[in-house]
Amino acid sequence: MTPAPPPPGSLPPSILHSPPGPLSRSALARLQRAECPISFDPPAAATEPEPSIVYASASGSNVFDLDGNCFVDLASGFGAILLGHGASGPTEALARQASRTWTSLGDVFASDTKVELLERIASIHPAGDARVLPCQSGTDAITAALKTAVLHTGRAGVVAFEGAYHGLGYAGLAACGYRESFRASFLNQLNPNVVFAPFPEQEQDSARSLDAVRAALASTPIGAVLLEPILGRGGCVVPPPGFLRALAGLARAHGALLVADEIWTGLGRCGAMLASSRDGVVPDLICLGKGLGGGLPLSACVGPAPIMEAWKRTVGVVHTSTFQGNALSCATALACLDAIRDGALCERAGRVGSRFMTRLRETLGPLEGFRKVRGAGLMTGIVLSSGALAGAVRNELLRRGYIVLTGGPEGDTLTVTPALTIAEELLDGFVDELARVLEAKART
Ligand SMILES: Cc1ncc(COP(=O)(O)O)c(C=O)c1O
Repeated sequence: MTPAPPPPGSLPPSILHSPPGPLSRSALARLQRAECPISFDPPAAATEPEPSIVYASASGSNVFDLDGNCFVDLASGFGAILLGHGASGPTEALARQASRTWTSLGDVFASDTKVELLERIASIHPAGDARVLPCQSGTDAITAALKTAVLHTGRAGVVAFEGAYHGLGYAGLAACGYRESFRASFLNQLNPNVVFAPFPEQEQDSARSLDAVRAALASTPIGAVLLEPILGRGGCVVPPPGFLRALAGLARAHGALLVADEIWTGLGRCGAMLASSRDGVVPDLICLGKGLGGGLPLSACVGPAPIMEAWKRTVGVVHTSTFQGNALSCATALACLDAIRDGALCERAGRVGSRFMTRLRETLGPLEGFRKVRGAGLMTGIVLSSGALAGAVRNELLRRGYIVLTGGPEGDTLTVTPALTIAEELLDGFVDELARVLEAKART
């Protein structure tokens, strides 16, 4: 009997024209003439140009480019496509909402959809009785959180971490420990009151990191301790157990707010609704984004009422924008939260991710160029021996039909953050292909 074909959205790669194929090449040439150039050269990884493709359509964990190539998407829109491309819940919610109203009037008049969404987002904060500041991008939510911290504490200082990424608006950029070159040209326009501490990976690194935070809190008026519970772009670095709890204790003791940037880690990606809860921590402010919008731009800063009411206590301040709480993103966000509500997808991310990491370790362990695997749930970093190797492997994987990112300050970490719904067969196929690519690289 012939085996049943894979369900839609779970197809293995199929490359008809080596990327970029002729149609993608021509679209890329037009793009180059129209788009502002960004010279983003990861330090060590720039030894060969990154091949590019142009998306034509997508379904589940598959992306199809203009040339008809089928890719397995292990990046999922930088983690934003939490339920897979074209997931039925958000797609249907979008159509229903589009037939009613698209956008209301920012913070002035809400739609009924926004009312329902904000109640649902508020219920995610483990402290209870939370209030939500709706925003549009991750960096916008970070701005909202740091503004809230200033209003609540009266202190402009921020403790942030080396390797951390909070987006490129000026509030997040000032706290960007991921790459100094991102900040360097804009330093004169950034908050000068940011102190960076090392982010620990090993048990023995925690004390040094906590000492740096303690020193900053003692010497500078710090209003916010801002951290990713797991460094995302910084290379999927999971801090040692107990670190987040100790950090929360330090922040509280000094009257600073603990701001958890759960924009990438949250909503099930790391095997729990919030990655910070893995360490039993209840942050003061939580920033959500990426997957929150069910594929459309939406983010939020969430905190307990007594903190968020700082906005009310300060006359004449506002944080809003034209499309704040627009009804279309609120509708797709509600559908996304519906899909993860019962915890089954979070649990699946934890289970599938841990099996994936075990297979990676077993298969890649003996291979030259492989260093380690780290992460949690479906946020997985595969650390290779150099940024140049990781860049070359990423490029070769694209040619073979797998979309992966590289991360880590040195660009040495292949970053895999697929949809939480990805078929395990696709992850297995990826592990085998990655082993073949690494073996081939070792021979050259
Ligand atoms: C942890 C984290 N915070 C904030 C951001 C910024 O989000 P956005 O790109 O939507 O502004 C990102 C983006 O990758 C992120 O990973």
